[in-house]
Parts: sequence; C-alpha cells; structure tokens
Amino acid sequence: MSYEVKGVVALSKGAPVTIETILVPDPGPGEAVVDVQACGVCHTDLHYREGGINDEFPFLLGHEAAGVVSAIGEGVTNVAVGDYVVLNWRAVCGECRACLAGKPWYCFNTHNAAQKMTLADGTELSPALGIGAFVEKTLVHSGQCTKVDPAAPPTAAGLLGCGVMAGVGAAINTGGVTRGNSVAVFGCGGVGDAAIAGSKLAGATTIIAVDIDDRKLEWAKGMGATHTVNSRETDAVARVRELTGGFGVDVAIDAVGHPAVFEQAFYARDLAGTVVLVGVPNPTMEVTLPMIEVFGRGGAIKSSWYGDCLPSRDFPMLIDLYLQGRFDLDAFVSETIGLDAVEAAFEKMHAGEVLRSVVVFDK
Ligand SMILES: NC(=O)c1ccc[n+]([C@@H]2O[C@H](COP(=O)([O-])OP(=O)(O)OC[C@H]3O[C@@H](n4cnc5c(N)ncnc54)[C@H](O)[C@@H]3O)[C@@H](O)[C@H]2O)c1
Ligand SMILES: [Zn+2]
Ligand SMILES: [Zn+2]
Repeated sequence: MSYEVKGVVALSKGAPVTIETILVPDPGPGEAVVDVQACGVCHTDLHYREGGINDEFPFLLGHEAAGVVSAIGEGVTNVAVGDYVVLNWRAVCGECRACLAGKPWYCFNTHNAAQKMTLADGTELSPALGIGAFVEKTLVHSGQCTKVDPAAPPTAAGLLGCGVMAGVGAAINTGGVTRGNSVAVFGCGGVGDAAIAGSKLAGATTIIAVDIDDRKLEWAKGMGATHTVNSRETDAVARVRELTGGFGVDVAIDAVGHPAVFEQAFYARDLAGTVVLVGVPNPTMEVTLPMIEVFGRGGAIKSSWYGDCLPSRDFPMLIDLYLQGRFDLDAFVSETIGLDAVEAAFEKMHAGEVLRSVVVFDK
C-alpha cells in the first residue's frame, strides 16, 4: 500500500516549482512515515531548484520540518506512532570512521529511507537533504526523527531541522563561540540570524551583523547583534576592525557562501581567530588568498556542515531553551503559508522580505 499526497517538486533546473501528486510507500524496516505539520523554506531548497546542489531532478523539496509519526516499519524502536518529532538530516550510522572516532556529528554515512517516494507515474524523487517535507506525509529513516517536547509549536520546532540549527551550531559548535568573544556574522538570513542568536546565547559580548539589506540588519539587532554594518555602503572589514579595537573578531562567520563574503570574513578576524563557512557555495565558485595571510593569521578556517550538530543532543536542548523563553524561535517565522505559496516564498526570500516562510498543513 502507499499513500497518495500532495507535495512541492522541482521538476527541472530553474523551472518554478509545482505541486504534484506524490506516492509515499508504507515504511519498510527502519523507516517511518511522518505527517508533516510545518516546514520552513530554506535557501538550500532554492539551491536545489537552481541545480546548485546536484542534477538529480526531480527533487521533492522541503527539509526543515516538524510533525507526528503516523507509521513505523519493522524494527523501529526509537520512535512510536503519535510521537512529535523534528526531522533531521543527520541520522548517524555509528559505524563510519567519524562515528568510530567519537565524532558522530561528522558522520560520513548518515541514514536515509531505503525506499523511494515517487511521482504518480512512478518517477523516483530525490528528497531534499534526504527528507522532502513540503508534503503532507513523508518517508524517512527512523533515525531522522528526533523526539521533542510537543509543547513547542511545529512552526517553531521545525526550524531546528535545518537553518536555525545550522546557524546556532556554526557559532557554538564549529566556531566555539564562548563568553566574552567577539563575533561577526556575514549574511543575516535565517542561518546568519541563528548564528547571532547562538552567539548571544553563548555569551559573546560583541556581535557584529553584516548584510547588504538594512531590513535584515534591523532584524539582526532583535536577535542579539550589538552592531550592524551595511557592507554595500561601508567597508565591512575596516568597520569590523574599528569595532574591535583595530584587531578583528575572534570568530567570523560567512552565512552567505560567496567568495567576496568569504574573503571579508577571512580578513575581518583577529590573529588566531576562526573563520566559519556555513553558507553553501555553488560548484563554480573559487577564492584566491595570499598564502602568507593564511599562514600568518593563524587560527582556523572551518566549514560547518549542519552546524556540526548532533540532533539527539541539540534539538531537545534548544527546544527546552525556547520553552524557557531563552531562545526565541518564533522570531524567525516571518509568515505561515500554504503549499501553493512556496514559489512565491522563494521570491520573497530573494527580495529579502522574509527570514523564514513556513509552510503549515492546515492551510
Ligand atoms: N552549512 C549548512 O549546513 C547549511 C544549512 C542551511 C543553510 N545553509 C546555507 O546558508 C546560506 C544562508 O541560508 P539562509 O536560509 O539564511 O538564506 P537567506 O537567503 O535567508 O539569507 C541570506 C542573507 O545573505 C545576505 N547577503 C546576500 N549577499 C550578501 C553579501 N554579498 N554580503 C552580505 N550579505 C549578503 C542577504 O541579504 C540575506 O539576508 C545558504 O547558502 C544556505 O544554502 C547551510
Ligand atoms: Zn557514521
Ligand atoms: Zn536548509
């Protein structure tokens, strides 16, 4: 048996997304079917649609979601029908060289559902980040379901599934931001603002938001930025240095994924500081840096895959902080929309009008 539901699909490179009938198989061994309640629109969905991730069209988009487990396959023990979960794209395997080395947040062989969801004509879909959640029901590996406190509404909880976790983790896990640090975040969308909120949570005392859009900078202040820089009008590197006694920041985070921005982050950090790349570059982008600067500045240049998070450890912790009023997930939700408005949400994201549009399924 399979379920027939509606979902948002990118059929071909660059084409507007469409709503299609999706066939979701009954869960097999180790799999679960989740009734999606809310799913945020992340810039990575747009990267998929533009062919910037890979060419495995058609994609079932959406990957930042919360919902309720509605069926489980054989051998599933970590979740039961009725459990409220946030979906993750890091179901760690426990067996790869990263897991065996005690660093499961780098897991090189994460689990996804073995079966494929398909279009009505049987065409197999590539689910975005192994999830695919702009759909009423989705099939995932049970390890992709992380149970959280149902007191947190799905519009807020779902955001932990990608962008907010990526940003918070880029600051705290990858960048190691701690009390008294100075941080600069380049690009203040959902991911960058989460890096700002995460830096505040970790006790950073100088948090500089850099963007080319004044609206974004205004929102960034609400997330905890102590200073803002419009890098279209001001030399961002010079201004960051000025704001940090001439030295640069301890941690500089590129939450755009663009060579010019990466260079700014590289030069805006202090000696022995850390540069974190959490924005996703496209496959054609290149950076050229004087090697003496790479050596002479010391410190570290790190990529942050999914904020180096461990969903089982980090999602419930952030939900607890949210429920205690210490981490404002609701502030990331600019609007709730129906499935039919994802294409419009991409345009709003592109125009800088939203932090997160969140698809909800009672609309
Ligand atoms: N590493 C990961 O695991 C991970 C996870 C989720 C998203 N991402 C990536 O993070 C990036 C940001 O995602 P998002 O959802 O926040 O996107 P978004 O579109 O909401 O935000 C991007 C922000 O960057 C700003 N910006 C654009 N060009 C700029 C420039 N030259 N200088 C300064 N600011 C600039 C925009 O004004 C906007 O505020 C994307 O590349 C996305 O694919 C990475
Ligand atoms: Zn592993
Ligand atoms: Zn994402």
